[in-house]
Amino acid sequence: MEKTLVMSASSPPIVRVLPDPQRLAEAAAEYLIESAHRAISTQGGFSLGLAGGSTPKMLYQLLSEEPYRGRVDWSAVEVFFGDERCVPPDHPDSNYRMAYESLLSRVGLGVDRIHQMKGEIDPEQAAREYDALLESRFGAEGLDLLLLGLGEDGHTASLFPGTPALHETTRRCVAQFVPNSTTGPSWRLTLTAPFINRCREVLMLVAGAKKASVVDRVLTGPNDPDHLPVQRVAPESGRLIWMLDAAAAGMSEP
Ligand code: 6PG
Repeated sequence: MEKTLVMSASSPPIVRVLPDPQRLAEAAAEYLIESAHRAISTQGGFSLGLAGGSTPKMLYQLLSEEPYRGRVDWSAVEVFFGDERCVPPDHPDSNYRMAYESLLSRVGLGVDRIHQMKGEIDPEQAAREYDALLESRFGAEGLDLLLLGLGEDGHTASLFPGTPALHETTRRCVAQFVPNSTTGPSWRLTLTAPFINRCREVLMLVAGAKKASVVDRVLTGPNDPDHLPVQRVAPESGRLIWMLDAAAAGMSEP
């Protein structure tokens, strides 16, 4: 069951619906591998931004094992993060820890090719450092591929409704205190919409019936980016792809 919906937008996103979380992870893995091959063959390297939360974990575990692992030249991959909770890298809430345990520690990536958002230091300092890293590494461009998730409140990365980061127009990474984040009141580091929208490809990964309502509002409802921050994700010249499982697409079996 694959259904492709092309939504009306300046650069219409492609929406693919997969039957279940396993097939969603497999489809995302295939897409990421193709994206990596394209980037590595044309420019010699692949810059990949990882999403946090729980949804991408199955994808990361899949990529860390054969037959997927050997299909990526991991020595040519450079890893960045879409956002981070301001906690130490070994904290259970750390997006870095989740990615490291499920993928990065298993594919032989050199530590110099993993760019952690430093959740363990002062948030504003960490944001300044990451912003400077992104500017020096990408200039006016963005990542080759950025993975993003979607919260039930319409947030993506750590761009939560009603937070200052939604209105950032120049910096690539900012820190902000989020009173009602998915991990409770917490400081967060996040990529901003201007940088996200300079990425060549953005892949939204959404699974589970709990997301069906927000997916429907985001993809078929009115434009309301203050209340639905993920609607700010609209790559300037890049490609936006949504991959949903049937439950998140509101198509799960009755
Ligand atoms: C985070 C993520 C966040 C996540 C959504 C969905 O730090 O929490 O970056 O944006 O993608 O909250 O999370 P789940 O995949 O756990 O539903």
